[in-house]
Amino acid sequence: MTVDLTGRRIWIVGASSGIGAALAGALDARGARVAVSARRESALREVAGDRMAVVPVDITDKAAVRRAAAQVVDELGGLDIVVLSAGYWKQLTEFDAESFQRHLDVNLSGMANCLEAVIPRLQAAGAGIIVGISSVAGLRGLPGAEAYGATKAAQINLLEALRVGLGPQGIDVVTVCPGFVDTEMTSTNRFPMPFMVTAPVAARMIADGIERRTARIVFPWQMAVFAKLAPLVPDRLWATIFRSRK
Ligand SMILES: NC(=O)c1ccc[n+]([C@@H]2O[C@H](COP(=O)([O-])OP(=O)(O)OC[C@H]3O[C@@H](n4cnc5c(N)ncnc54)[C@H](OP(=O)(O)O)[C@@H]3O)[C@@H](O)[C@H]2O)c1
Repeated sequence: MTVDLTGRRIWIVGASSGIGAALAGALDARGARVAVSARRESALREVAGDRMAVVPVDITDKAAVRRAAAQVVDELGGLDIVVLSAGYWKQLTEFDAESFQRHLDVNLSGMANCLEAVIPRLQAAGAGIIVGISSVAGLRGLPGAEAYGATKAAQINLLEALRVGLGPQGIDVVTVCPGFVDTEMTSTNRFPMPFMVTAPVAARMIADGIERRTARIVFPWQMAVFAKLAPLVPDRLWATIFRSRK
């Protein structure tokens, strides 16, 4: 069964730039009513124009996330879909516990703060869709992405567990695993980023996947093939392949 996005009340967290910003535009163009959140209010206002609600929030602040969710529900008159796109990436050159903690705070605890704020509302409505933006980096370990990849792998597991548990309550969970997307996040990367797509292309893939209720959206197609094959590569062979690329 497909989802008609017309009139759907959608909260996008992490929408001041990149994938979230492009997705806000794509969902607005498909007739949804959108609220956008992140920390940078001026960037959010640029994304929103006069068409979307703007609710600035830092997702590492649990109480602030709870207030932001209440404001979104107020402004949109309810909530049908939440997209969790906020994220943090820093390449580790040395193992660095402080950087590791920041990845945990934003990518994992931040996502958990958002989930805690929205799940009871969707449960009360007996319907809804949670869309989490993870990454193909969560599928296997890659050097430099020890912290990022670990949080992305945890997101995939977390979202899967929620899909199992919340499905019978009418709540669907969509996991998005993008390959490389040309955004602020990747702008400082100094390594090859094969099959990179633009944020508008990523947004179209995600919006199409939500409409089709795809459980796991992986793009572009080359990365979808990678996602199917990567888990099959034996551990020692995986290490050898990527060690030789360092
Ligand atoms: N670009 C890629 O190649 C790629 C690939 C796979 C997965 N992803 C994932 O896609 C998602 C979006 O990333 P992107 O590429 O679009 O990067 P981006 O342009 O840097 O967007 C990241 C978003 O997260 C927000 N954010 C960061 N920390 C936050 C916090 N503490 N509280 C609230 N919002 C916060 C940022 O806004 P503020 O700074 O205004 O708070 C921004 O809106 C991330 O989860 C990323 O891991 C990206």
